[in-house]
Amino acid sequence: MIVSNLLLLLLPVVRAVGGPGFSIFDTPSEALLPSNDPFYMSEPADLSAYSLGDLIRIRVAPGNLSAMFNASAVYNIVYRTEDSLGHPLWSFSTVFSPLNPYSSTPTSNHSRHGASSRGNGTAFMSYQLPYNTPSVDWSVSVLMYDPTQTATLGDVTAALQRGWFVSVPDFEGPYAASTAGSLEGKVILDGVRAVYSLAALDDSELAGLEPLGLDPAHASFSLWGYSGGAISSGWAGEMQPYYAPDLQPYFAGLVIGGMPPGFMSTADLLDGTSSAGLLPNALLGLTQQFPEAREFLVSSLKQEKAQDFLAALNMSALQGFVAFYNQSIFDYFINGRDDLNHPILTSLYDGHYDLRLKGVPSVPVFAYKAIGDQFSSIQLSDQLITEYCDGGAVVLYERNTVGEHISELQNGHSRSLDWIDSLFNGTHAETYGTSACVIKNVTVVDPTGPPLGQL
Ligand SMILES: *[C@@H]1O[C@H](CO)[C@@H](O)[C@H](O)[C@H]1NC(C)=O
Ligand SMILES: *[C@@H]1O[C@H](CO)[C@@H](O)[C@H](O)[C@H]1NC(C)=O
Ligand SMILES: *[C@@H]1O[C@H](CO)[C@@H](O)[C@H](O)[C@H]1NC(C)=O
Ligand SMILES: *[C@@H]1O[C@H](CO)[C@@H](O)[C@H](O)[C@H]1NC(C)=O
Ligand SMILES: *[C@@H]1O[C@H](CO)[C@@H](O)[C@H](O)[C@H]1NC(C)=O
Ligand SMILES: *[C@@H]1O[C@H](CO)[C@@H](O)[C@H](O)[C@H]1NC(C)=O
Ligand SMILES: *[C@@H]1O[C@H](CO)[C@@H](O)[C@H](O)[C@H]1NC(C)=O
Ligand SMILES: *[C@@H]1O[C@H](CO)[C@@H](O)[C@H](O)[C@H]1NC(C)=O
Repeated sequence: MIVSNLLLLLLPVVRAVGGPGFSIFDTPSEALLPSNDPFYMSEPADLSAYSLGDLIRIRVAPGNLSAMFNASAVYNIVYRTEDSLGHPLWSFSTVFSPLNPYSSTPTSNHSRHGASSRGNGTAFMSYQLPYNTPSVDWSVSVLMYDPTQTATLGDVTAALQRGWFVSVPDFEGPYAASTAGSLEGKVILDGVRAVYSLAALDDSELAGLEPLGLDPAHASFSLWGYSGGAISSGWAGEMQPYYAPDLQPYFAGLVIGGMPPGFMSTADLLDGTSSAGLLPNALLGLTQQFPEAREFLVSSLKQEKAQDFLAALNMSALQGFVAFYNQSIFDYFINGRDDLNHPILTSLYDGHYDLRLKGVPSVPVFAYKAIGDQFSSIQLSDQLITEYCDGGAVVLYERNTVGEHISELQNGHSRSLDWIDSLFNGTHAETYGTSACVIKNVTVVDPTGPPLGQL
């Protein structure tokens, strides 16, 4: 990643009605690190005067993402959202237009239990990549320039091949609040609103930019995320009925895979393993918005190990895996595991991390997980799904008898795409039936998924 300090040319505000309006920025000649990119990180003036989901900044994405992803165009957007505590915040997403947009006309009553699913017009997906970092400079918008950093972008290229528009939000926000689902859900939903706003702009408002090409009146959207992306997508699904009821007519379905409910249970499974590095990244991300909890976390570290732990503040997920390989993270703390189980931290797990806190999704849910998932408990996932079902959600939950956390990312690829596709194209009920809650064991190996390796 090459960092440069280019001056950005700020064009005049082109829309002044209904809030402060947005600005169109020139594209820098190279991708910048977020911390060095005023488009991304400078706090917008009058932030609180914008409504949730309002566009604030737009530009064509720098670099050759169109070529890398076979997209017809790629945009960066900055939009208004809010943090876990309801304070005004902005966030960033990368929005891809497919080369050959999918479209369909309604063929049948494909809705399961009347849940919204239009099967008409264009299709759009918000894809939450599990980038698991407390550093904004390792956000997914940075990783996507380097395909060796992450495998799950293969889900994005596959969606584009199917003709869907795809938004890939930096759902941890500008302060990289990794695993803070209560922030991430809002960032995702406001990102969806912002994409609809972008789609609605006409030529004069776009001041020379190519229009997105998505028909905002007839576009359905789905959410999809695996692992850390399932925490954030799950929160978005649970919050949507009250946080973004305006999106209801467009919201087709929610896909969550490899979801890791139960912070301490997950910590017990990860500690001392090759994936232990997820823990420092999660603890630092989760305490990002909560100074007292951060202070407790830092003051609980053994003095001689504090610096090594805090180095994670600047690490990508991949760097964390390497730095903490096979280490006990509990052993970094004066009182070991007990410190992570302290009420100051457990109140964050209970209030801002765990799923099934904010209700149940109002749209059909596809959930998938390997029974042998070594990162998080299958029993707690079963319990989550049972609670969704008891709460009236429409769910297909597939427990894979093969594989573990990493392989299930690959093995869930085609199943997720097909499930979403069926909602978009009107074949859902005939393919998946109309039962409210289907829980089954499957045995699926899917070599077409993204290559195995890093999440
Ligand atoms: C994109 O740019 C990078 C860096 O210049 C280069 O390595 C890569 O081959 C390019 N990819 C495409 C598809 O053009
Ligand atoms: C892009 O399209 C070309 C030509 O169809 C294909 O060979 C290549 O694999 C595609 N790449 C991606 C990332 O979809
Ligand atoms: C579609 O089917 C659902 C469930 O089978 C039903 O509740 C709904 O009323 C139907 N909608 C239409 C427009 O027929
Ligand atoms: C389907 O889309 C077409 C054109 O995009 C529109 O005219 C029609 O009203 C839509 N039908 C429904 C049921 O939304
Ligand atoms: C890491 O731990 C695993 C067991 O969790 C063990 O199989 C492996 O040999 C360890 N690797 C190293 C390099 O110590
Ligand atoms: C993270 O990187 C920044 C900028 O390079 C540096 O100022 C800071 O000290 C680093 N933090 C840690 C904990 O290493
Ligand atoms: C709808 O999507 C499913 C899943 O991808 C696919 O198998 C089917 O052929 C599609 N049907 C239509 C009518 O496009
Ligand atoms: C699914 O597999 C579990 C073992 O993980 C087993 O206990 C359960 O009975 C199986 N369920 C079905 C419906 O076969």
